[in-house]
Amino acid sequence: MEQEIFTMPKIGDQAPDFEAMTTQGMMQFSEYIKGSWTILFSHPADFTPVCTTEMTGFALLEDEFTKMNTKLVGLSIDSIHSHIAWVHNVKEKMGILMKFPIIADIDMKVAKLYSMLQPGESETAAVRAVFFIDPKGKIRLIMYYPLNVGRNMDEIVRSLQALQTADEHKVALPLNWRPGDKVIVSPPKTVDEMEARINSDYEMVDFYLAMKTL
Ligand code: BEZ
Repeated sequence: MEQEIFTMPKIGDQAPDFEAMTTQGMMQFSEYIKGSWTILFSHPADFTPVCTTEMTGFALLEDEFTKMNTKLVGLSIDSIHSHIAWVHNVKEKMGILMKFPIIADIDMKVAKLYSMLQPGESETAAVRAVFFIDPKGKIRLIMYYPLNVGRNMDEIVRSLQALQTADEHKVALPLNWRPGDKVIVSPPKTVDEMEARINSDYEMVDFYLAMKTL
């Protein structure tokens, strides 16, 4: 059978727009995400173990994400009825409510748009994708995980904090950066900037690797 080819969304692209049914009603994605950060994430299937641990992980941190001006949007290729039953079941069994909208992508329209359907892994279930979208609707960071490996919430939160810190302070973040750690000052772009850098009080390995505390 011939395989459909879809363009993979890339960092720096405008997040593709769509209209979809969710557990919170119909959503026009571009309208919903306007002015806030958004984490759009897919899971392979409702009522499956790894997905349940991940989705409850997102639900438990939803208020923290809200404080970080960030909306959560889940997705799987399941019906709205399945989503509603799963949300109810998780609330009953675990006392955790998934308040964020979960897209019922039964026709796979959104999964295809965001390359969440990766046929080498599964023809019928979305892989575990995470798209970080900024308040201007631009894709800023993408993660893809296979069906059998759960994501890491610490890394998802850290990535968001890093993106927001980089934007706010116009800096870059080094290996394993966490809030409170030193940040990287942009490398000089001219000889004059380089001279100024050498005479600055930044913590420096050399002029091209300078760190400061925010
Ligand atoms: C899970 O969430 O446990 C799962 C879902 C689909 C395939 C494999 C595992």
